Amino acid sequence: MPKPDILVTKPMLPIVEQQLDAEFTVHRLYDAEDEQTMLAEVGGRIRGVALSWWQVNEAFLKQLPNAEIVASFGVGYDHVDTDACLAANVMVTHTPDVLSEEVADTAIGLLLMTVRELGQAERWLRDGNWAENGAYPLTQATMQGRTLGIFGLGRIGKSIARRAESFGLKVAYHGRSRQDGVDYRFHASLVALAAACDTLMVVAPGTPETRHAVNAEVLKALGPTGIVINIGRGSVIDETALTEALEKGTIYGAGLDVFEEEPCRPERLMKLPRVTLLPHVGSASQATRNAMGQLVVDNLKSWFSTGRPLTAVPELKQK
Ligand code: GLV
Ligand code: GLV
Repeated sequence: MPKPDILVTKPMLPIVEQQLDAEFTVHRLYDAEDEQTMLAEVGGRIRGVALSWWQVNEAFLKQLPNAEIVASFGVGYDHVDTDACLAANVMVTHTPDVLSEEVADTAIGLLLMTVRELGQAERWLRDGNWAENGAYPLTQATMQGRTLGIFGLGRIGKSIARRAESFGLKVAYHGRSRQDGVDYRFHASLVALAAACDTLMVVAPGTPETRHAVNAEVLKALGPTGIVINIGRGSVIDETALTEALEKGTIYGAGLDVFEEEPCRPERLMKLPRVTLLPHVGSASQATRNAMGQLVVDNLKSWFSTGRPLTAVPELKQK
């Protein structure tokens, strides 16, 4: 049997690239001098895509008429038009589960950094302020007594909730629906959740429905002691509304790992005192990224040997 031809859109981890080379005939879009020329040449042979940092839409799929599967790196797949894939009979997989604990750890770290201003305090020491000007100012916020409102209680959200409970925080949530067997208090709207908590943890995926769900009204409901943490997708928060709320002090602070545009240098946010900014590092340890890459390889291998994927995205699971 000839090896299936696959397309790799952007460089993947060495452990992934080696396995892809061993299992498949690999075409590297990122090596092409001209992407369109390369797609025109080999597009018809491609049966699978190992995907990262690339938009999959109808136009792209048209260039790959024999594609059977798009194996996307990452749990979020907002860069993949799943309707177009369904219409073109293309399976889509992502890499859930293997990153949940890592992202939950990062979320709690970001929360602690934001509440206790740990990044700012560290910079205080590095800048010589401790030696020259004395102690870092007392933080007006503390973890104790906070109520964490989780927007998106999926696998990552639940891992965050478990950690939050061990810190003594109360936990509530909002999502598409109340979940059976979950004891945390459910709120039917995001505004209601924000009004009932002082710490909003955004874990929801980036979809048309969640776009700018955290808007001025939600931030107002969160109130002046409110802290927003975003470990999900930048598009879920109206970043302009958030920046304005922080500038006016209508909320207390924010910790962001994701942004509307990435990569970015968010100048207005960088000027604010109680904001922690991370460069989308939620899952970014070598071990976790290797596990995610392995799942991309394993999805492709499974598909071409059994006709079944391992971790299809929910929209394509019935296939
Ligand atoms: C990272 O943001 C992911 O979706 O895995
Ligand atoms: C989303 O994650 C939900 O809980 O519906």
